[in-house]
Amino acid sequence: MKKYFIAVLAFALLTACGGNAGKEEKEGTAEEKKEVAPDLSADPVYQAGLAIVGKSDCLTCHKVDEKIQGPTYRDVANKYAGYPDTIVTHLAKKVIEGGTGVWGEIPMIPHPALTQEEAEAAVKYILLLKNK
Ligand code: HEC
Repeated sequence: MKKYFIAVLAFALLTACGGNAGKEEKEGTAEEKKEVAPDLSADPVYQAGLAIVGKSDCLTCHKVDEKIQGPTYRDVANKYAGYPDTIVTHLAKKVIEGGTGVWGEIPMIPHPALTQEEAEAAVKYILLLKNK
């Protein structure tokens, strides 16, 4: 299962780098399947982060693909795809402290009840949702 996940990731990276035109049909299929991503839900990083997102209030403002008050998790993941790992620390701090100005005028409320570790786990889950 893990091997399959890594294979999908590697494939996604290849696709992001331009891929190869001969495989276009296959890539299209993989792209569609990513919406469901059964391999993703088996990832412990995904599960740990989702648990935190689920027990906190995140989902009242964020959904994976539907914009509510906050940006969709997919948009957040796509925006920070390719950033260095330190982005996790930065975004986790922002979740804890709250903030505004990156996606618009609406502020994200602070989440002082979360530890830095919990916030980072939540952010890692979010960043897994990228589709490019
Ligand atoms: C009251 C609504 C609200 C709640 C609750 C909320 N958010 Fe947000 N979130 C926002 C808004 C609005 C933004 C955009 C802030 C900005 O433009 O800088 C945002 C932005 C973000 C970002 C991207 C930050 C950036 O600088 O790009 C992440 C990651 C995030 N939220 C994660 C979470 C997590 C995890 C939780 C739960 C612990 C959570 N949010 C709860 C409203 C919310």
